[in-house]
Amino acid sequence: MSSRPDLLQTGPMMGMIEAQLNEHFTVHRLDAPDAEAMLAEVGPRIRAVATGVGSTGGGARRVTDALMARLPALEIVANFGVGYDSVDAEAAGRRGVVVTNTPGVLDDEVADLTLGLLLATIRQIPQAERHLREGKWPSGGFPLTATLRDRTLGIVGMGRIGRAIARRLEGFGRPIAYHSRRKVADVPYTHYPDLIGLAKAVDALIVIVPGGAETERMINAEVLAALGPKGVLINVARGSVVDEPALIAALADGTIAAAGLDVFANEPQVPEALIGMSHVVLLPHVASATHVTRDAMGQLVVDNLRAWAAGEPVLTPVPETPVNRAG
Ligand code: NAP
Ligand code: 8YV
Repeated sequence: MSSRPDLLQTGPMMGMIEAQLNEHFTVHRLDAPDAEAMLAEVGPRIRAVATGVGSTGGGARRVTDALMARLPALEIVANFGVGYDSVDAEAAGRRGVVVTNTPGVLDDEVADLTLGLLLATIRQIPQAERHLREGKWPSGGFPLTATLRDRTLGIVGMGRIGRAIARRLEGFGRPIAYHSRRKVADVPYTHYPDLIGLAKAVDALIVIVPGGAETERMINAEVLAALGPKGVLINVARGSVVDEPALIAALADGTIAAAGLDVFANEPQVPEALIGMSHVVLLPHVASATHVTRDAMGQLVVDNLRAWAAGEPVLTPVPETPVNRAG
């Protein structure tokens, strides 16, 4: 067997990832113009896939069951990102293919950005800055804003990142509650087994659950109505988790007060309706997007692939595919 396994790269990745992939693997690009012919020729030899978008964003092709069916020798899919909803992990599991992701190394970075987005949304920091830059200050100060001081804070998802967000929120001195299917034993926050119950109890709802079928549009019109007219929604999870048309309607008619969004249903497209609203803060999916953290994520992608190629257990397999297959 070749000492440099054949690897399929589904789209552009960070330079530091691509350099190491090219050093240790025979890389074939799915974003090359002749991808179909390449797949027909080398598909049967491909043993590894590297997927996920790089530091510049942009589309990487989904790793579907249909794609994996064309790769009969496939053993591992290494995903750049802790969220792996663009990989059909159930299908990979059925095929005996291990999937890896990049958990842990981005928790603090994403939590930092989440608190920035929460404050920016409630205190209208971007709007206030625009007021100054547009020369409006001499004609009048920026209007008073809403505050964190009179709020209960809710988190949907109390996993690695949810916990990091909650720890930071403690510094604000406000009550914290959360929703997840299972109560987390070692956190002091109030657990709501029912999402509507949490939405009714809080004035700011921070969403940090995985994407995918189980969470699809879980933040719907009913949840937004329960959050109420003082409520602020912060989504740093996946666009798919929020019913975007329902959110736009809720923002337009005052069902909720404001939203801060890092993720969208159809990235990189953002609905004009949101762009036109002055009570939303919109970010282009940047929660983990710093040099240090993206490098750590990229290195974990490579380290998983190299461990597999060396016949060692992979470092961070996802739960659907617990098989650590040797290379
Ligand atoms: P994690 O450790 O697996 O935690 C996921 C949490 O979500 C758990 O508390 C889980 O609890 C809860 N959850 C899962 N499914 C649920 C459901 N159907 N209903 C209610 N709660 C549910 O994941 P993580 O590392 O914190 O990452 C979370 C997600 O954040 C990632 O999958 C990714 O999509 C997103 N993310 C976004 C960015 C960004 O750039 N904006 C960056 C990093 C991560 P139960 O299983 O008990 O329900
Ligand atoms: C990245 C993310 O932006 O880890 C995730 O799940 O959403 C982010 O850290 C994403 O992987 C695309 O680069």
